[in-house]
Amino acid sequence: MGEAVSDVHALTPEAFFDEVHSFEFWFGAVRGYLDGLEYGHRPETPEAVFEDAERDRLVTVLCNYCIGETAALEGAGGLIQIAPNRAGKVFLSTQAVDEGRHLEVLLHRLGELGVEDPEAEIQRRGSRSLLEFKRRLGELVRGRDWVAAIFAQNVILESMEFASFHIHMQRADPRTREMLAAIVKDERRHIGFGENELGRRLREAPYARERLVALRDELDGLVLRCFDETMEAIGTPASERNELGRHYHSAVARLGFAR
Ligand SMILES: [Fe+2]
Ligand SMILES: [Fe+2]
Repeated sequence: MGEAVSDVHALTPEAFFDEVHSFEFWFGAVRGYLDGLEYGHRPETPEAVFEDAERDRLVTVLCNYCIGETAALEGAGGLIQIAPNRAGKVFLSTQAVDEGRHLEVLLHRLGELGVEDPEAEIQRRGSRSLLEFKRRLGELVRGRDWVAAIFAQNVILESMEFASFHIHMQRADPRTREMLAAIVKDERRHIGFGENELGRRLREAPYARERLVALRDELDGLVLRCFDETMEAIGTPASERNELGRHYHSAVARLGFAR
């Protein structure tokens, strides 16, 4: 099992449900691209030479990625308790492992960049919009609102991360690029779960769509503000800034939640 099978978007919904909700699938999916990596990048990949301001901006972005990954880790862990079936609980346990790994490699990357106390830096550099998003997601999970929480986490948050990492990779230093490339592969699997799960729920209970549209409208503002802050920090030229929003909206639109 390798890269071809781990492209979960190529599977039919039925095959997805049978295959992807398992550690068997997960092992096959991650083995291919984690082999040879240490903390998310090949050990021999050279460290870039950064100017101070550039390093500082990268640290800010990585601190915010840590907040996003912590939200996903706590979200996936919490969702295990309210998943309506055992297959869903198994999938979410694979996702929780992925999100814990993402957080670990990001913290390690901060260390490589000379950050001595990542916790303090994350506190200091955290985006208010992203922290508000994390708070809202926690509220939905604690409120045991399965459909809304899956939507917020595995569609909105995952699409936000997927779009940010994808754009960032194009201009990142070599180590950061390798790390983000591996993370993005997991995020594709998590988005696939969200699409599969919600597609089924919405066929069974179409009235739920209206509620999710309202939630998307509420969360979109936070997501777009996070994008602005990230793009500012990674130095995305103005001409490319719309691309991030487009990436995000097209991921959300695949589920029929186009704006
Ligand atoms: Fe993640
Ligand atoms: Fe994820």
